[in-house]
Amino acid sequence: MQRERIIVTGSAGFIGSHTVAALIARGADVLGIDNFDPFYDRAIKAHNESLNRAAADRGPGSYTFAELDLAEPGVLQDAAGAFEPTGVIHLAARAGVRPSIEDPPGYARANVLATSIVLDAAHRLGCSRVVLASSSSVYGDSAEVPFSEDAPVNEPISPYAATKRSCELLAFTHHHLTKQPVSCLRFFTVFGPRQRPDLAIAKFMRLIAAGEPITMFGNGDTSRDYTYIDDIIAGVLAAYERTPAFGFRVWNLGSDRPTRLDELIRMIGEVVGREPIIERGERQPGDVQRTWADLTRANAELGYAPSTGLREGLEKQWAASRQNPD
Ligand SMILES: NC(=O)c1ccc[n+]([C@@H]2O[C@H](COP(=O)([O-])OP(=O)(O)OC[C@H]3O[C@@H](n4cnc5c(N)ncnc54)[C@H](O)[C@@H]3O)[C@@H](O)[C@H]2O)c1
Repeated sequence: MQRERIIVTGSAGFIGSHTVAALIARGADVLGIDNFDPFYDRAIKAHNESLNRAAADRGPGSYTFAELDLAEPGVLQDAAGAFEPTGVIHLAARAGVRPSIEDPPGYARANVLATSIVLDAAHRLGCSRVVLASSSSVYGDSAEVPFSEDAPVNEPISPYAATKRSCELLAFTHHHLTKQPVSCLRFFTVFGPRQRPDLAIAKFMRLIAAGEPITMFGNGDTSRDYTYIDDIIAGVLAAYERTPAFGFRVWNLGSDRPTRLDELIRMIGEVVGREPIIERGERQPGDVQRTWADLTRANAELGYAPSTGLREGLEKQWAASRQNPD
């Protein structure tokens, strides 16, 4: 069998760095791409990149890295041509719902323009498939729960969600015209070691451990389908394998176990071993009331079956953050 040569964009990020390590452990040669977007501290991303290199030292696959901005036309194709990629896992993006409200054009550039460029380059480079990161945020506020891939997704309520839905539409059109297999993975709030520092769990752990107050937006009744990183990575790898069999497909990757915000905060307090000091804030524009993944399709078609519960995952994230404080 041909050895896989896979481009992973967003390789210096949270999900990207875990994906790189898993692919290398399976024997793939990986080209990581990232521009160290200043959305959060470059030192954290540099640390993630050092973990990618360490994964390559363990083998059996290999790793190379190129620092470049995917939204610059032509740059990816030039950098990746000699690598002769067999596939692309496109995880790079400006993530985060609330910051997207401050900078819709910046999110459109990093997410929509860059994804269009990635799809085009993957076709020109002759890749066998493309897997794209989408988001549960595409379901907006109106969907019935649990969210099924067949539900209408025409009313995203933040610029971030709108860019992710736009990427799915570009992917569909790209597949229609080129026949290149493409899948879109709707991730549901991912957590675990190396979680982005702006996300609630990482932020709450830091503040509660320091004895500082946290802000709970709304009355605590919003809920999220928190999904552990190892489960997400198993889903990404399965999707990479199965995409050619489907042509174009959207899959939810969640946990099917929504948890209320007030319950999450209570649990983090227990894991960290300190009573949270909670300040109340207004529910934030762009934030949806709840997310909840219907996993019927992902389970049937990918064999996706998340196995790490919230409490167990929180303990692992807390233990890892104490080894590698941000
Ligand atoms: N973490 C979650 O809970 C979650 C949930 C739903 C969807 N997602 C999606 O999953 C993907 C990975 O998310 P993450 O949490 O690992 O985020 P992350 O911010 O840790 O990683 C994204 C990486 O993309 C890079 N990047 C951004 N713009 C770029 C550009 N123009 N060129 C090259 N690199 C660029 C950033 O520097 C960053 O390292 C994203 O597409 C995100 O939208 C994440």
